[in-house]
Amino acid sequence: MLTLVTSPHQWEEALPLLMDAMGRWSAVSEWGRRYLTDPEDTLWVWETPRGPVGVIGFHRQPGRSAEITHIAIHSPWRGRGLGRQLIQAAWSRHPDVEQLVLETDDDAIAFYRRLGWDCQAIGPKKPGWRTRYRCTCSRNDASGSIVDVGSHFMRKDDGA
Ligand SMILES: CC(C)(COP(=O)(O)OP(=O)(O)OC[C@H]1O[C@@H](n2cnc3c(N)ncnc32)[C@H](O)[C@@H]1OP(=O)(O)O)[C@@H](O)C(=O)NCCC(=O)NCCS
Repeated sequence: MLTLVTSPHQWEEALPLLMDAMGRWSAVSEWGRRYLTDPEDTLWVWETPRGPVGVIGFHRQPGRSAEITHIAIHSPWRGRGLGRQLIQAAWSRHPDVEQLVLETDDDAIAFYRRLGWDCQAIGPKKPGWRTRYRCTCSRNDASGSIVDVGSHFMRKDDGA
């Protein structure tokens, strides 16, 4: 079930995933404040009976655009289509948004390109750092049908 994070308790449950997405506790802490208090910033967590398996965060931009600020799937669940479903959920939960944007690096760029995003290198943030990419996707170019994802997503070994 995809749930909007509104409480510190939900936030704490998602901490390992947020570390996967952000890499630094200082960033996790700063974004925690934003996601819990700023109406422009929202975080969704994919809950299962075994706990959270995915997170996706958004920042609303002016006009009909939104930025995917963070996305992470718990490592045992990767490669099962859950990342794709979270992006599809992004579209369906924001019906007024016509364009999604994000920044990423080499680790995830193939994922976004596979989903129909256009990604252009913008160079490293600082000399010696890894190359960053600015990726965009319009609703018309999104790969796969944009439907609301199912309310539950079970692991194969959950007996579903
Ligand atoms: C990037 C991430 C969210 C992808 O989630 P996922 O659930 O593994 O992705 P999916 O299974 O939905 O993959 C969708 C498609 O992209 C492809 N894909 C996913 N990750 C890929 C990768 N690293 N390289 C190449 N292709 C990839 C899949 O093979 C699949 O292709 P298909 O259409 O042939 O089935 C996940 O790997 C993750 O959490 N990574 C760590 C955090 C991170 O890097 N976040 C992004 C920072 S911007």
